[in-house]
Amino acid sequence: MDDAVSLHTVPDIRVELANETVSGYDFLVVCNRLPVEMRPDGDGKVTWTRSPGGLVAAMEPALSGREAIWIGWSGHHIDDTLPVSPVPPEVGPCDLQEVALSREDVEEYYEGFCNATIWPLYHDAVVTPSYHRRAWDRYVAVNRRFATATARLAAPGATVWVHDYQLQLVPRMLRELRPDLVIGFFLHIPFPPSELFAQLPWRRQVVEGLLGADLVGFQTEGGAANFLALTSRLLGLSPDSDGVDVVSADGGTRRVKVGAFPISIDTAEYDALARRPDVRARAAAIREAVGSPTHLLLGVDRLDYTKGIDVRLKAITELLEDGLVDDCVFIQVATPSRENVEDYQNMRDEIDQMVGRAIGDHGSIGSPPIQYLHQPLPREELVAYYVASDVMLVTPYRDGMNLVAKEYVACRTEGDGVLVLSEFTGAAIDLPHSFLVNPYDADGVKDAIIAAISVPDEDLRTRMTAMRDQVFAHDVDRWAREFLSALHDER
Ligand code: ADP
Ligand code: F6P
Repeated sequence: MDDAVSLHTVPDIRVELANETVSGYDFLVVCNRLPVEMRPDGDGKVTWTRSPGGLVAAMEPALSGREAIWIGWSGHHIDDTLPVSPVPPEVGPCDLQEVALSREDVEEYYEGFCNATIWPLYHDAVVTPSYHRRAWDRYVAVNRRFATATARLAAPGATVWVHDYQLQLVPRMLRELRPDLVIGFFLHIPFPPSELFAQLPWRRQVVEGLLGADLVGFQTEGGAANFLALTSRLLGLSPDSDGVDVVSADGGTRRVKVGAFPISIDTAEYDALARRPDVRARAAAIREAVGSPTHLLLGVDRLDYTKGIDVRLKAITELLEDGLVDDCVFIQVATPSRENVEDYQNMRDEIDQMVGRAIGDHGSIGSPPIQYLHQPLPREELVAYYVASDVMLVTPYRDGMNLVAKEYVACRTEGDGVLVLSEFTGAAIDLPHSFLVNPYDADGVKDAIIAAISVPDEDLRTRMTAMRDQVFAHDVDRWAREFLSALHDER
């Protein structure tokens, strides 16, 4: 506990480190969030629940069987009433170290720079990114705190794996503190084209921050190419197709490898869950509860404006209006996300209205054509929804990968089911046998839904078999192994 508090209050520990005996972990994972989230109950007690989002979903199984420490934030800001409490050792996949954030840190670093600047900018600016200097200053300060915590906990020569857009400055800061470490960085979200990235007032610092790593990994070849192009445009470096040489601290050169590492899921675990009799019984009960329709369509997302939840609601509503779908129910399950960020609040209102209007216009008592759950579901329950549904609608405007698409495929143990997938997701590259759609093309999405519910059985099974082969051959364990092998020059 004391250690976590001191991490929060010590601004720069380079001097301290010189006097410290550094012994520690050989493998460190550094993410904005811990895999578990702290929820205060108001009486000074806390419960720990699984953190939301694809990063945790992927990293948890990727770490199983590895000795590691995971450094991250508990999801709760420290304040006067609830001091930082130690994370109980039994709740995570490995040892956990909290980096504490104050209320101001959460507002300016997490809700501000991470989720009102970088998140929209890296997702094609689907909402307008904001550029505030205070938020940037806080991003720098919090990244330094993460780097400092990591530097303290790493054994000599340890491997450090830094994750995602919240911590892009950490690789360079960490290298300055601990040049002995092997540092990998993986970006879970898209990396934008240079024309878009160039809007960022602190673009140079971000690229330099990432270049502190030995390996910078992206979801797609496109993201890696965008980054390499920027090292030339902003820093005058001469990248080649798989990396770039930078000047090292001793005046020599240091190679930064850059590549694509498409993330995946624990395919075998989803497959096994989907075969469990209790999960299958629950799937049957879900179908019955919504009136045993001929076609059950499903959407599962964090409630995020990048996910195109509005795209599918609009398409389904218009299809109902046009009388082009019959005996069809759409279930949308959305996990609450980033609820203090204005654009998320606006989007939630918009989705609430769209759902309400569609049910009002096209429902009848006891059988609404659209069902909407604004809540996280336990893993087994989510799998039951995947098993129950004939068609999965994944329609983001932009998405780094989209694990939901892969989870659905892994759960279709009978080789049936149809995936309608936005071509602007990383998953579209891995799953070309889905029904690919442009989410900006309303008629195209409607056509894809009609095609999905009327596809001949044989075609549907050929497609699903190809997609299942892909997700079984490329699971999250393979992803982690490939990244770490590349980091250590083992491939
Ligand atoms: P992102 O990382 O942007 O949230 P992904 O699709 O890659 O998007 O990952 C989302 C993860 O969150 C998946 O593992 C999915 O199963 C999980 N998830 C999404 N919605 C829910 C929900 N309502 N309840 C439980 N888990 C959810
Ligand atoms: O990569 C997607 C991501 O932003 C992760 O970094 C994050 O853990 C997840 O989505 C959920 O978002 P948040 O941590 O902001 O709730």
